[in-house]
Amino acid sequence: MNILIVGSGAREHAIAVALHRSPQQPHIFCCGTSLNPGISQMTYHYWSGDITDVETITQLAKEWQIDIAIIGPEAPLEKGLADALWQASIPTVGPKRVLAQIETSKSFARDLMQKYGIPGLPRYRRFHDLTGVEAFLAELGEGNYVVKANGLMSGKGVKVAGDHLHSFADAIVYCKEILSQGQDVVIEEKLIGQEFSFMCFSDGKHAVPMPIVQDHKRAFVDDKGPNTGGMGSYSDADHSLPFLTKEDVSHAWQINEAVLRALLSELNEKYIGILYGSFIATRHGVYVIEFNARFGDPEALNVLTILTSDFVAICQAMVTGSLTSDLVQFAHQATVCKYAVPEGYPDEPMTDTIIDISAVKNKSRLYLASVNAANGKIHATGSRTAAYVGVADSISTAEEIAEIEVRGIAGPLFHREDIGTDRLIQRRIDDMRRLREEKV
Ligand code: AMP
Ligand code: GLY
Repeated sequence: MNILIVGSGAREHAIAVALHRSPQQPHIFCCGTSLNPGISQMTYHYWSGDITDVETITQLAKEWQIDIAIIGPEAPLEKGLADALWQASIPTVGPKRVLAQIETSKSFARDLMQKYGIPGLPRYRRFHDLTGVEAFLAELGEGNYVVKANGLMSGKGVKVAGDHLHSFADAIVYCKEILSQGQDVVIEEKLIGQEFSFMCFSDGKHAVPMPIVQDHKRAFVDDKGPNTGGMGSYSDADHSLPFLTKEDVSHAWQINEAVLRALLSELNEKYIGILYGSFIATRHGVYVIEFNARFGDPEALNVLTILTSDFVAICQAMVTGSLTSDLVQFAHQATVCKYAVPEGYPDEPMTDTIIDISAVKNKSRLYLASVNAANGKIHATGSRTAAYVGVADSISTAEEIAEIEVRGIAGPLFHREDIGTDRLIQRRIDDMRRLREEKV
C-alpha cells in the first residue's frame, strides 16, 4: 500500500509516525516544502517544492501509484488538491475545495451555522468595504469585538478588542489594512472563556471524535506576546480538559456533527477527512471560534502520539465510507506538547540556524517541523522548529517529561516553560470557575 503525505511540518511528521507503526506496513511518500529528516527517514520517495502546485503533486501521486493521499495543511485544500486527486482516482483524506471553505472562508462557516440553526454562533457580520463598519462596532460596544480577515492568514489575521485593538479608530485602521489586501472583513462579538480544540475523523456520513486538546497561541509565558501558529498543547488522560464539563463536551460534539450534516446538505459532497472545531467555553455555554478542515498543529501531535489503533485502517475507512468508532482507539494517557521555536519568532525569527537533537532521549516522541536537512545537519528555517510530546498518567508528569526533552533540542531556540504546568492548569480551572459563577 502506497500512502502519500502532503506537507512536511511536525503535524505531517506525526502523521508519518502513526502510519509507520501500522501493521499494514505501508510505503510512505511525501510531498513537502522542505526536506524534513524526521519524515524522510520513513519514506520511499520524498519530493520537496510548492505543495500548492496541484498539477505537479497529482502527477507525482499517479507516478507513485498512490493508494491513499493525506493532505496535512490547509493551503493545498484551498487550491483544490483533494478534487484533483479524487479526479485522478486517488482516494484522499482531506476535503474537496468547496467543503474546505468551512476553514478557508470565515463567513461561509458562520453563514452555514446560521442557515442550519447550529448553536454556538456569536453575532457577526461580513463587510466588502467600510460601509456600516462603525455602526456594527458601536452595536457590539467598545472592547467587545473581534476583527478578522475572511480568508486564510495562517492564524495571524485576527485582532481582538482590548488585546490588539484599543479603540474603534484602531479597528477601522485594521479593517482598512485587511480590505487593502483584497480580503473581506468579518467583525464578530468577542467571546470570553477557555478555548479548546475538538477534532474528529469523518467519512462524510459518520464522525468519530479524537481527544480534546488545548493549544497555546501566544508566543510567551503567561499568554503574553503575539499570536503564533501554536506554541504547545495538552490533553488529559480522560481525553477532555480539566476545566470542561460533560455538557461542554457534548455540546461541542453536537456542533461538529451538525456542521458535517449541514455541509452534506448544503454542498451535496461528502466531507472526507478531519474536521477540527475550535471552541470556547464561556459563561453562556460553548461557542464556535472557527473550524479547520485538517488536523491542528500542534493538536495532531497530542492525539496521534496516543493513537493505539491502526491509522492506515482509519484512513481506509474514511475514504471508503466505512468509518466506525471501534477503529479509533486512544490510550488513556495525558499528553503535553511543547514547541521549540527560533529566537525572534514569530515576528523576526532567526533563519537558517543549526540545531542538534542528539540530547533528546526518546526521539520517537520528537517531531521535527520547519527544518531542512543539508550536509548532515538540521537547519531551522524560521517557523516553529520541533516539538516534543510528553505522555504520562497525569498532565503534570507529562509536562515534566516534555520540559526535560524539549530542553534537549539545542540551538538558538526558545519554548514556553509554562505549558501544561500545574500552575497554568490551575489558573485555567480558576478562570473558568469564576466565569461560570458570574453567570446571571
Ligand atoms: P482564528 O484564526 O479564527 O482561530 O482566531 C485566532 C484567535 O483569535 C483564536 O484562537 C482566539 O483566541 C481569537 N478569536 C477569534 N475569534 C474570536 C472571538 N469571536 N472572540 C474572542 N476571541 C476570538
Ligand atoms: N493549532 C492551531 C491550528 O492548527 O490552526
